[in-house]
Amino acid sequence: MELWYGRLAHGARPLSSQGGQGGPDLSAIAPEESYGRQLEHGLRLSGESREFFLEGRLDCLVNQLERVGYQRGAVLDFGCGDGSSTSRILDRLGVQGLVGVDHSEEALMQARLGSDGDSVEFRLPGELASEARFSLAYSNGVFHHLEPGKRLSAARYVFERLLPGGLFAFFENNPWNPGTRWVMARIPFDRGTTPLSPPTARGLLRAAGFEIVSATSLFFFPRQLSWFRPLERALGVVPLGAQYLVLARKPNG
Ligand SMILES: C[S@@+](CC[C@H](N)C(=O)[O-])C[C@H]1O[C@@H](n2cnc3c(N)ncnc32)[C@H](O)[C@@H]1O
Repeated sequence: MELWYGRLAHGARPLSSQGGQGGPDLSAIAPEESYGRQLEHGLRLSGESREFFLEGRLDCLVNQLERVGYQRGAVLDFGCGDGSSTSRILDRLGVQGLVGVDHSEEALMQARLGSDGDSVEFRLPGELASEARFSLAYSNGVFHHLEPGKRLSAARYVFERLLPGGLFAFFENNPWNPGTRWVMARIPFDRGTTPLSPPTARGLLRAAGFEIVSATSLFFFPRQLSWFRPLERALGVVPLGAQYLVLARKPNG
């Protein structure tokens, strides 16, 4: 949930008053722009970079995985988008293989263009066999794009492809954070979507067969208050950050 966070750091103004000399102009995010363009455009509004949020998620994930003694293996990135997270996921988790799936052909094409590793593949969801072969699945900001009635089958899709004991790192935007809601209402690709609260996410994952390992909130403080960020790890139990991670496990038996 990159967008609101950095924007607050620059001081919130009504959208209609933005623009001008290099200033952010949310009103210029046209719904007809491609998903990728909207995302890029949105990220320009952020005082923090896309990498900042990716690294924050990965810090949180690595910390949680260390606590549960994660056994490294192949990773499934569900809703991988343009693959811009792939190399950092591989590096930070110290894993060798990753399969990214996404239902957008355009996103997959960009992901393949940006990929230089033999150990990485990008596919449509229907192209990936239902064989259980992944030790970890990662998903960021995908499930709020799914109609509520389609979320359970998506969570089951991930469940089926995980090895017994495999983990699902489920990152989502937090609707309990007012800034998150404010920005999501203004970005065309997020407008009209229904974000999942942390308990809704846990319920969904349980319904798909997972057991919940932990739930952690992240991104509490904007750049102006960055000296408080060392407290964010301790605040992780407070479900009010801009994003959250639910770490879930496929039972062994
Ligand atoms: C907000 S983007 C996040 C992309 C990426 N996970 C990231 O962190 O940059 C959401 C992605 O979910 C994908 N998506 C939406 N519905 C999907 C579905 N049913 N199956 C697979 N991918 C889906 C979209 O195409 C888009 O690439």
